[in-house]
Amino acid sequence: MNVWMLDGGFGPQHLRKALRPEPTPGPGEICLRMESWSLNYRDLLVIHGRYHPGLKLPHVPCSDGVGIVEVAGPGVEGLQVGQRVATCFMPDWTYGPLNDAARSSALGAEVPGILSEYVVLPAHGVIPVPEYLTAVEAATYPCAGLTAWNTLFEASSMKPGQTILTLGTGGVSLFAVQFAKLAGLRVIATTGTPEKAAHLKSLGADHVIFHHDNPVWGQQAKELAGGDGVDLVVEVGGAGTLDQTIQAVRPGGTIALIGLLAQNAKNNPNLLPILMKAIRLQGIFVGSRAMFERMNLALESWRLKPVVDKVFPFDEVPHAFAYLASGKHVGKVCIQAI
Ligand SMILES: NC(=O)c1ccc[n+]([C@@H]2O[C@H](COP(=O)([O-])OP(=O)(O)OC[C@H]3O[C@@H](n4cnc5c(N)ncnc54)[C@H](OP(=O)(O)O)[C@@H]3O)[C@@H](O)[C@H]2O)c1
Repeated sequence: MNVWMLDGGFGPQHLRKALRPEPTPGPGEICLRMESWSLNYRDLLVIHGRYHPGLKLPHVPCSDGVGIVEVAGPGVEGLQVGQRVATCFMPDWTYGPLNDAARSSALGAEVPGILSEYVVLPAHGVIPVPEYLTAVEAATYPCAGLTAWNTLFEASSMKPGQTILTLGTGGVSLFAVQFAKLAGLRVIATTGTPEKAAHLKSLGADHVIFHHDNPVWGQQAKELAGGDGVDLVVEVGGAGTLDQTIQAVRPGGTIALIGLLAQNAKNNPNLLPILMKAIRLQGIFVGSRAMFERMNLALESWRLKPVVDKVFPFDEVPHAFAYLASGKHVGKVCIQAI
């Protein structure tokens, strides 16, 4: 079988396709014939050696994909050969609170990833795909979709009429916009270009703010929210955006700290307003299988389709990563088996 791996060093120039024997599932495991994958910003960090600098090479990247159960190992129950399933980002985070064992099962960094024609995983680490989704569409949910779901409805309990602030038009943020609108929330979103702003509007964003050359976009978000500010920030920027998102959020509101897109060593956010405004700073790490099941129930009822920007063939994985790195995408960048 063909497998993409990072070999000989970090950086996209070290991505190469290799031939490996097909894996055989052991007790409690299944072998998937992969149909599709989706890329996350995290995968770029892994490839550049910025996520896990001590990572042992060669390393197979990527966490999110969909495949058909080809072989079920001894003792596997509840999954049928031929069934279409999605990978769980942390196969061992099945339910309950996050713990260290679950964290260390994260695919594509802590353990080898899935950018391979066949993949063996524990049976509890995959989840049946809603039938209305294509394999490519379903591959977008395990990390980006579930992170947005967890942020809005598990770590917080957002109610109709409340307001969220999202940053940019990447995978997590667009899922947050889509989920929020379906749940009756108001959305204030930021982005960099009029084209991307039009896309946000087409998804139902109530207000769009341009963050480039706009040092007070957080204050603007607060004014647009009315009252004392937004209820929840889907904070994918980190240190470089936190000063503004602290401005935007209302006293007693929540900043869900998800990403570090705007990590900037020179920027030292002022933490004082966090206590003066009694803000809840909530770290988010994707979500559990139980959360994934609840998200799938909502997806089935909403019949929600993800925003897929581009789909690359399996042979063109380096082009897919280059496109993601360009930041030109809106929503998800995916890969499809040939
Ligand atoms: N904690 C978790 O569980 C979790 C899960 C998934 C992702 N993440 C993290 O969340 C972040 C987003 O991930 P993703 O996969 O959604 O990324 P993505 O699809 O690559 O989205 C990136 C988008 O964010 C916007 N952006 C980039 N730099 C920015 C900046 N300095 N300030 C504001 N917006 C900026 C841009 O949109 P515009 O051009 O429209 O501005 C860009 O297209 C990453 O840091 C990722 O590692 C964390």
